[in-house]
Amino acid sequence: MSFSEAEAMKMADIEQKMKAYKAKGYRVPSRKMIKTEAQIEGIRRSAAVNTAILDLVAQHIRAGMSTEEINVLVHNYTVEHGAIPAPLNFEGFPKSVCTSVNDEVCHGIPAKDVILHNGDIINVDVSTILDGYFSDASRMFMIGEVNPEVKKLVQVARECLEKGVQAARPWGFLGDIGAVVQEHAEKNGYSVVREFGGHGVGIKFHEAPFVSHIGCRGTGMLLVPGMIFTIEPIINMGSRKIYIDADNDWTVLTDDGKPSAQWEYTVLITETGAEIITG
Ligand code: CO
Repeated sequence: MSFSEAEAMKMADIEQKMKAYKAKGYRVPSRKMIKTEAQIEGIRRSAAVNTAILDLVAQHIRAGMSTEEINVLVHNYTVEHGAIPAPLNFEGFPKSVCTSVNDEVCHGIPAKDVILHNGDIINVDVSTILDGYFSDASRMFMIGEVNPEVKKLVQVARECLEKGVQAARPWGFLGDIGAVVQEHAEKNGYSVVREFGGHGVGIKFHEAPFVSHIGCRGTGMLLVPGMIFTIEPIINMGSRKIYIDADNDWTVLTDDGKPSAQWEYTVLITETGAEIITG
């Protein structure tokens, strides 16, 4: 049996199983949300570059550095490796990476006058296009000595992501992910941002489905082998209320000025669980 025949048989199996779930009233993914082996390969290659970029940022990030310097690092490494930074010019976004500091929730714009100081926390969100395939991941970085309370927020946000990945499995549901993230965040006295979430990724930057980080087990879309999406909980220390900076129409901030933390992976639903394909 050839490779493609095996793949076709596997797909027929998945489709049959999905049909049964659909008949019972469950929401099932569209055919487009299930990636082919060739697409998965391409997205993995893109993700490898994306991870290398985040590793590079980890090596260089320090107090005194501007977020524009991070932008230059990301941009240059990306293009030197034959890839394209996905954020650049995406719906008019002016830079190659998002850098969100302290009370910035997401979509912070790198700038020469935004200098990292001792005690700051920053999310660096990197998205890469390689040979037409998209990948997306972000990490938090702590600059110098960070207040223990803020450190804990960063740690719990990371645990929320890891728990979300563990909850993602074939023939489970999107709501399983939201439920564990929400429970862990709220148990620690934090709130979960609802206006932004994870998303399908691979052939485009943002694809269906929307991955909410709140939810109920056993609800929402069925998860099926071959789906690729991000899990990227945004956890606020205080209120979940946010607003968009009117000066640039991009940067999202917490309403109460308290810090916010986010970690993101791109994951692939396999036959046994969820595989993290970024780092
Ligand atoms: Co994303």
